[in-house]
Amino acid sequence: MTAKRRILVTSALPYANGPIHLGYLLEAVQTDVWVRFQRLRGHECHYVCADDTHGTPIMLKAQAEGISPEALIGAVHAEHRRDLADMLISLDNFGSTHSDETRAACNRAYLALRERGHIEKRVIRQAYDATAKMFLPDRYVKGNCPNCGAADQYGDSCEVCGATYSPSDLKNPLSVVSGTPPVERDSEHYFFRLSGFESRLKEWMAGGAVQRSVAHKLEEWFAQGLKDWDISRDAPYFGFEIPDAPGKFFYVWFDAPIGYLGSFAQLCAERKLAFDDFLSPDSRTELHHFIGKDILYFHALFWPAVLEGAGMRRPTGVHAHGFVTINGQKMSKSRGTFITARRYLEHFPAEYLRYYFAAKLGPGIDDLDFNLDEFATRLNSDVVGKLVNIASRCAGFIARTGGTLADALPEPALFAEFSAAGDTIGAAYEQRDYAGAIREIMALADRANQYIDQHKPWLIAKREDGAAEVRGVCTLGLNLFRSLMIFLKPVLPDMAAKAERFFREAPWNWQDAARPLLSQTIGAYEPLASRLDPAAVAQLVESPAPPAPPAAAKPAAKPAAASSPAATATATPATAAAAATPISIDQFASVDLRIARILAAERVEGADKLLKLRVDLGELGERQIFAGIRAAYEPATLVGRLTVVVANLAPRKMRFGVSEGMVLAAGPGGADVFLLSPDAGAAPGMRVK
Ligand code: 2FM
Ligand code: ZN
Repeated sequence: MTAKRRILVTSALPYANGPIHLGYLLEAVQTDVWVRFQRLRGHECHYVCADDTHGTPIMLKAQAEGISPEALIGAVHAEHRRDLADMLISLDNFGSTHSDETRAACNRAYLALRERGHIEKRVIRQAYDATAKMFLPDRYVKGNCPNCGAADQYGDSCEVCGATYSPSDLKNPLSVVSGTPPVERDSEHYFFRLSGFESRLKEWMAGGAVQRSVAHKLEEWFAQGLKDWDISRDAPYFGFEIPDAPGKFFYVWFDAPIGYLGSFAQLCAERKLAFDDFLSPDSRTELHHFIGKDILYFHALFWPAVLEGAGMRRPTGVHAHGFVTINGQKMSKSRGTFITARRYLEHFPAEYLRYYFAAKLGPGIDDLDFNLDEFATRLNSDVVGKLVNIASRCAGFIARTGGTLADALPEPALFAEFSAAGDTIGAAYEQRDYAGAIREIMALADRANQYIDQHKPWLIAKREDGAAEVRGVCTLGLNLFRSLMIFLKPVLPDMAAKAERFFREAPWNWQDAARPLLSQTIGAYEPLASRLDPAAVAQLVESPAPPAPPAAAKPAAKPAAASSPAATATATPATAAAAATPISIDQFASVDLRIARILAAERVEGADKLLKLRVDLGELGERQIFAGIRAAYEPATLVGRLTVVVANLAPRKMRFGVSEGMVLAAGPGGADVFLLSPDAGAAPGMRVK
């Protein structure tokens, strides 16, 4: 056994403006399996994460919803925490970058960097929205591509021809925030001098901190030359103000990784750990970050350089993984394949996904395809058909012969083969080759089933003198099962806990697989997993929505999934299909669309899709509207926001009350429904034309 290691581990911080989805769950599961494996081996392993709460998108989203950014990130934090807990992610702390601890860590890091000469001020020229009174990030300017002329392209790159450029190169640029043409304006910014860290970063990388394929990528970046990094943004900005720099804020990507430290500082306070043991430059502990391959630049260049520049240790390892695709394609809201954690958890146990991901996850950065058919087949064949089968074939015979395991194993060599495999399985987990570990575990499960097939306890049990022999065979069978469950405990923690109770043992550690369990009275066996119905798995993705008509032109058609049941009830497939038929301007004018402010929102007892809204329509007064948006919105987050309503829809009496209008929304349905939001300046009662 190696000496006890002290390890701090993180997963990347999810943005606080949307739900946890399958892509992020891959990362959480990858990290959690590694963390649980380390703990099972007896090491001290702390696992922290947090919500990534700052920046322009969150600030504008809160504005659009008419709530404070703090209210927005508060609601999301509660959801994220619940999703991760339900996925059995064993975080020691799930914090927020909007915390006193992260602010303190940011200031400390920044002041140390400044002190050591790693910060430089420079004036830069940037797009500015004079109407919204704010500087515009590149993605908030749109216009015609300077290269191919394509319309509606972002300010940094063209999705049609792939050209990259800066917002000032766009033709006919418009601000996404106010819709007005941006102007150019100068502003003083703070830069982190990354270029000074090149040789130290190369040395860090050569020490094996990143995967080989990642090292190649970094070499390319070194060859292109490291550019200094702008770590400041001008007010208005939701974030932390830079010390001694009024009106200047830390860029969200500066404080995000520092959020790891803020979250860990909270844990240190709670558990009386010494922060410096883990972060001081001479630390003998380990620091590991699990991330997606899209954020490598931040974690493999900026972050180690910031840590070093601020007088802290560098990461021991930055471990990148690929993206999740669904049935071979990118996850997509419009195709109905954007699977949120909640949606998954409403259908299936967390451990099924944990197992499936682990069985397919290697140590590299290849994408991982979540194939719905394969998901069911894999679970049914491996977990139900092989693993659990061993226990269910043996447990009954032990119960019938007194409920106590035999005093010796009939074939100790077979058991020894299993315990010896612990070394290679352990090495595979350590290297994050979970697919390799599971392959080996399932090969052993086949061996165990073969052993039972050969000895046929059901036949021995029929013999008068068969009791002792059947007990021996099934004691070995159950011991093989026990070893496999110990090896799988990082992936299947709940099943392993049930198995521990079945064997009446204290929580296992890795070494428990090295010795057999004998002469023990065990509990009653209860099935540990049940088969997955492929038809039920298919429901994880939604059927694609029919092509959406322009929302305002055809409000009664189905794709306005949030429309009140009063309206959707009248929308037949025929009307939905007719959505593409042109309508006259008079027909359009007959629909009275108005800006509304949501005054109150609540769930409706007995209607699992509906929210009851009270809206203010200005001169038209207040109305009550039932909207099918319950899966998409926490009622409290809606209160105060503006949206668009069909005001002249005939009232309709429903079981729960009268619906007096319809709220317009876009999206395929379920949790993926998006209310329309007017730009700033709109007020309740205004006509939408
Ligand atoms: O890419 C993202 O989703 C970021 N929110 C990850 C931040 S990880 C870290 F740097 F904090
Ligand atoms: Zn182009």
